[in-house]
Amino acid sequence: MESVDNMKQPIRLAALLLFVLTSLLFSTSPTHSQRAPNVEQRVNELLARMTLEEKLGQLQQLDGEGNGNFRPEHLDMIRKGLLGSTLGVRGAARTNQVQRVAMNESRLKIPVLFGFDVIHGYRTIFPIPLGEASSFDPTLAERSAAVAAQEANNVGLRWTFAPMVDIARDPRWGRITEGAGEDPFLGAAFARARVRGFQGDDYGAADKILACAKHWVAYGNAEGGRDYNTTDLSENTLREIYFPPFKAAVDAGVGTLMSSFNAINGVPATANAFTLTKVLRQEWKFDGFVVSDYTAVKELINHGVAGNEEQAAALALNAGVEMEMVSRSYNQFGPQLLKQNKITQATIDEAVRRILRIKFRLGLFDHPYTDEAREPNALLRPESIRLAREIAGRSMVLLKNERETLPLNKNIGSIAVIGPLADDRRVPLGWWSGDGKEENTVTPLAGIKAKVSPQTTVLYAKGCEVKDDSTAGFEQAVNIAKQADVAVVFVGETHDMTGEAASRSTLDLPGRQMELVQAIHATGKPTIVVLVNGRPLSVGWIVNNAPAILESWFGGSESGNAIADILFGDVNPGAKLPVTFPRTVGQVPIYYNHMNTGRPPEAENRYTSKYYDAPWTPLYPFGYGLSYTTFKISNLQLSAPRINASGKITVNVDVENTGRRAGDEVVQLYIRDLVATMTRPVKELKGFQRISLQPGEKKKVEFVLGPEHLGFWNREMRYVVEPGEFRVMVGSNSVDVIEAKFDVAPN
Ligand code: NOJ
Repeated sequence: MESVDNMKQPIRLAALLLFVLTSLLFSTSPTHSQRAPNVEQRVNELLARMTLEEKLGQLQQLDGEGNGNFRPEHLDMIRKGLLGSTLGVRGAARTNQVQRVAMNESRLKIPVLFGFDVIHGYRTIFPIPLGEASSFDPTLAERSAAVAAQEANNVGLRWTFAPMVDIARDPRWGRITEGAGEDPFLGAAFARARVRGFQGDDYGAADKILACAKHWVAYGNAEGGRDYNTTDLSENTLREIYFPPFKAAVDAGVGTLMSSFNAINGVPATANAFTLTKVLRQEWKFDGFVVSDYTAVKELINHGVAGNEEQAAALALNAGVEMEMVSRSYNQFGPQLLKQNKITQATIDEAVRRILRIKFRLGLFDHPYTDEAREPNALLRPESIRLAREIAGRSMVLLKNERETLPLNKNIGSIAVIGPLADDRRVPLGWWSGDGKEENTVTPLAGIKAKVSPQTTVLYAKGCEVKDDSTAGFEQAVNIAKQADVAVVFVGETHDMTGEAASRSTLDLPGRQMELVQAIHATGKPTIVVLVNGRPLSVGWIVNNAPAILESWFGGSESGNAIADILFGDVNPGAKLPVTFPRTVGQVPIYYNHMNTGRPPEAENRYTSKYYDAPWTPLYPFGYGLSYTTFKISNLQLSAPRINASGKITVNVDVENTGRRAGDEVVQLYIRDLVATMTRPVKELKGFQRISLQPGEKKKVEFVLGPEHLGFWNREMRYVVEPGEFRVMVGSNSVDVIEAKFDVAPN
């Protein structure tokens, strides 16, 4: 028989081991499930106690009244366990009021999950995501999403329907404004960064929220650029162009996805077992949940794949949509569908399990309430406003700057600030502006006034509206331009001309704005144009005539200050276009990473792929943007002339600031697989780095390419790196590149 002392030894050892293991576990980055132990066990225990109605209740999300208020009738649903989540209900006191009903008056005390569209800020509004992507600096997106999460969390929200990671190759589509543009590599980098910013390592932490990658999937491929429209595209294109940002979001730990409105190759995304189950759950091992888009389950009837709401519910649930937004088909028809064996108990349980899992990981059961005392100090913190200004400045793209028109001198005698968007407080907030407020927005006029010397005269005239047809204001605008040393004209779109249900059939400046620019230009005064818009615009006349053009996008709360920082040289612009600007809408779709065709365009050969009546080249290419200084990219070196298909190759270039100001260059790396078993794009972005250089400074920039960059999805739908020759191109945009070649040998 062992003595008691002998027994103590192994116990001590085991305790030590446990201690070491636990510290190791928690000293590395803890994941959501590590922070919330026993999640699966708690989910299963709770699931075992739920009635069918309570289960279906967890699958239901309903929207509030629109002003942040809840609908009174929802309280009773919550009391009965029939509502799992709300959309748009916010404010610490309000969400607490609703949550108290769930926690004190419902049978199982399952907390409500409060969601809202916090896309590019909650109260402190950052540039629209398309603008932020222009920074080519995903760390900025991570920081702005972190501020959005902190503000949102403090008003009781736990879930944002962001990031929107749809690739958009069609600027007619209004929702191009909400994403990172046309490129999957850039899109993936921003998707990853935004998920990290919203969720951190633990979306249950104070100041973090659960993210939702949307809209799964190919929503941006809508036919004709018409919102909600059908898509028809190959699986290769899905996997290579539309999936990567979602995959990046899933790999970054995103807790939820939203299924999109569109049909994909005949099957609506909200009933699509291929995307929802095969790819998402089986291939990518996603263990969070999918929420439908707004009434998208019921809309399966309009798509013509369901004859009635009952069928719609069965289709969506069986395909893998766990939560239904706003329509109530699961709730209403779940019980009879189950009786008729059109859905199974296992399917319902799996859906509920996924939702509860996220609620546990969020820590909602243990910390269901929001500290109301924190709310007033949580919004518009000085450091958040500073960040909004910094990010806006780093997101604006200098498109033209002839004879160093910009930057302007702060001591300039007089400046005419003109245009319908020069002093507008709403527009810079963009579409989806959370709870951003006009009174917290700095307009360009205010930013300029705050920037110039006390001796400078600032004149202002609106000139015209964005939307109507009146030219009555032209005369005053022309008059002040004549009186001033320089005119700065702010033209573009209103916020509601982009975003959801805001597809446009032309990319021209709306209303009489182009004529306004022309009238100001005709005065002979240097006419600087600042574009304020949420999508690429076809502004050829301005590009040919104005000496300087700044693309400011919808720059958020601090837009006006950031514009002034750039116009007067306190910030040197360094952003690049994340999307191609067409010359005319008829060129759409036009994107840089297209296939070559058998007859690539040639100027002298009519029988090549181009237009009879317009150039084939864009107004501005992807990746384009200037600086107040100049850069030279040279000396492209490869680590080897040949690598194996599973190998890596290092690419180096020298980047030198050849001008007189400190500035940023975005060094971009593109590849082309020259001969493959399938046609390959003429260029694919596979690396980018935004670097800062002092005048005369030279830096080496290094990129590493591996199989994850060199392969593609072949005809058998396998990801392969095929042997053969590759071209590697490095440059300051997708057109101006230097290049080299290397070979890939079979493994
Ligand atoms: C519809 C939009 O498509 C989606 O992006 C948004 O999250 C929901 N409405 C909720 O507001």
